[in-house]
Amino acid sequence: MGADRIAVVTSDVGAEHDEDLPLLVEALRADGCAAEAVNWDADSVRWDRYDLAVIRSTWDYVDRLGEFLAWADATARVTRLRNPAPVVRWNSDKHYLRRLAERGVPVVPTRWLEPGRTCTEADVDAAGGVVVKPVVSLGARDTARYEPDRRADAVRHARMLLDQGRAVMIQPYLHRVEEGERALAFSAGTFSHAIRKQPLLNEPGVIDNDRTPHPGAARYKPTEAEIRTALRALAAVPVPDPLLFARVDLALDGAGDPVVMELELIEPHLFLRHDPQALERFVTAVGAECRRDRLDQGRKPTGRNRNH
Ligand SMILES: Nc1ncnc2c1ncn2[C@@H]1O[C@H](COP(=O)(O)OP(=O)(O)O)[C@@H](O)[C@H]1O
Ligand SMILES: [Mg+2]
Repeated sequence: MGADRIAVVTSDVGAEHDEDLPLLVEALRADGCAAEAVNWDADSVRWDRYDLAVIRSTWDYVDRLGEFLAWADATARVTRLRNPAPVVRWNSDKHYLRRLAERGVPVVPTRWLEPGRTCTEADVDAAGGVVVKPVVSLGARDTARYEPDRRADAVRHARMLLDQGRAVMIQPYLHRVEEGERALAFSAGTFSHAIRKQPLLNEPGVIDNDRTPHPGAARYKPTEAEIRTALRALAAVPVPDPLLFARVDLALDGAGDPVVMELELIEPHLFLRHDPQALERFVTAVGAECRRDRLDQGRKPTGRNRNH
């Protein structure tokens, strides 16, 4: 049997900034895999030539969501895509926080405004100020916070997004992010490591689409309550098997209890450098995924069925 052929899927911006990428490709090669970094939107890639395609740093997808989701569906038809295409689609729109809330997972309290309706000052009335953000975003794009005396500005921001046909989330500004937001990384459904990072929305009233996404990331030992909350969130994802990788971002509410800010199941930065065992755990999980593929094939004597 030849080496497992693995595409570590990135983008132009990922190839430049993803510090996990070279580590991962190198570690997979050291583990005996034929691994290479491939841009999701590169011309004439034969995705069927790979045994596994692991999405890692496709960080330019937000402006091309339809194209990206179509790519995920098409790729999943010819190879094993991780995470699976339906999870990619589900996770690309933060309406999923509603499903988590319905299942009793503590999430940042959110008011949802759908295009076709407007926003009024009553929608942005919170004692500690609000955060306005679109349901499709990464790196705090088109996201800002507003002090309680700047409700008119918050309304203007929400209306701008609604006018662009984008659904909007209004949340109370959780001041405790100033003590650090947590990001917990999971490999094959098991907690791997965590980091803590500094807040992004330091300047009220400012939309800045060039923010450093994870300022001051530092290794962090999460509390039991944080791990429990993250696992509950992952258990609410509509998928039968544990995900190859996941990151759960948590903030603390006013009472100091962890609440889910977002689930990162598409292309999370995993901060593999921040824990000495993180890379090894991830490579082990990828290896197990490849072996699962071979077992599946063994059960299908008529040939390969990569359409998982
Ligand atoms: N309700 C909130 N309270 C405090 N800070 C927030 C809130 N929502 C977002 N932020 C800040 O904005 C950043 C980006 O928001 P997030 O919901 O993670 O969207 P994304 O990372 O997908 O753009 C967070 O990491 C956090 O620093
Ligand atoms: Mg985030």
